[in-house]
Amino acid sequence: MKLILSTAALAVGIAATGAAHAADAAKAAALMKGSDCMACHAEATKLVGPSYKEIAKKYDASATDALVKKVKAGGSGAWGAVPMTPHPNLKDEDVKVMVEWILSLK
Ligand code: HEC
Repeated sequence: MKLILSTAALAVGIAATGAAHAADAAKAAALMKGSDCMACHAEATKLVGPSYKEIAKKYDASATDALVKKVKAGGSGAWGAVPMTPHPNLKDEDVKVMVEWILSLK
């Protein structure tokens, strides 16, 4: 079932010139699984940090660069007193793929 769904999504993505977008979603998922994001965030449920859907609701694409900096620097204040840990070793372009995917979850 999962395979059928993702094959269908891929076909739709290619048909809608969204091939690059579909690839970015897969890349974002892989990057986030490879980092520690999923320890504190989930797509639709608040864990230690806000859910990705809440983040997508709060910001539009113009916030992308600021959010990339925030993920790298860590910190608190936007959602409450609990801080996000810093991620100084991640590459800007990788964090950007993650943030763009998060913001696409509207
Ligand atoms: C230790 C737990 C933790 C980890 C690990 C973590 N986060 Fe967070 N994240 C948080 C918390 C807590 C907040 C809310 C910070 C605030 O209130 O300013 C947050 C906020 C965010 C925001 C919104 C920032 C803002 O200013 O509104 C984004 C985007 C985000 N995280 C992405 C990521 C990504 C991508 C990763 C993996 C590279 C990650 N987080 C790893 C806890 C975490």
